[in-house]
Amino acid sequence: MTVARINPSILSADFVNLQSELEAIRSADYVHVDFMDNHFVPNLTMGPPIVERIQAVSPIPLDMHLMIADADRWAPGYAELGAFSVTFHAEATDDPVALARRIRDIGARAGVALKPGTEATPYLEILHEFDQLLVMTVEPGFGGQAFMANMMPKLAQIAEAKRRHGIDIWLQVDGGITVDTIGQAVEAGADTFVAGSAVYGGVPEERIAELRAAAQTHVH
Ligand code: DX5
Ligand code: ZN
Repeated sequence: MTVARINPSILSADFVNLQSELEAIRSADYVHVDFMDNHFVPNLTMGPPIVERIQAVSPIPLDMHLMIADADRWAPGYAELGAFSVTFHAEATDDPVALARRIRDIGARAGVALKPGTEATPYLEILHEFDQLLVMTVEPGFGGQAFMANMMPKLAQIAEAKRRHGIDIWLQVDGGITVDTIGQAVEAGADTFVAGSAVYGGVPEERIAELRAAAQTHVH
């Protein structure tokens, strides 16, 4: 059976109580940590000193999402903090393949993220260079936005190329994932689901279980 990984985003957590907010999602697969630089996106979150502490206390591994400009300069440093996975934006680097190779050399999984306006076509023949491809289903920058169902054809196009080439890349979706929208993303070929407000808007353990159940009804 296909897997459905649930990665809660701590962007919607209480930042003053991060340790207990991390404990509350220990039944999830990975913790999704959003980095924003008030430049690549019009919002600001955290940097290395805070993520070092998150890394130290988190019961589950870190899935880092870098929404920062000049990824070539900064992404390897995040990988060196001991992340399980580092995803940079395709729009923030001139050479995604070279950057992914540097991240893999450090020992983290390398992910590339596509904003809603970014075409998948240039990546379909180089999927083997990445461990994860993130299809944004909102404009990056803020939690709690509505799911863009019109991204599903792009996701399906990537999933088709993954099958055709027989590549073991994880297909992640991020933005507006709820029990009502997760099924569409499963159907289009996603296997890894970020959810911020849907998890922290209620009792996290219950919300994670509900998302898993909703995903499983669509998994083939
Ligand atoms: C948005 C971030 C997301 C955000 C998702 O730019 O990348 O990870 O936390 O939040 P929800 O699930 O509330 O849309
Ligand atoms: Zn994210």
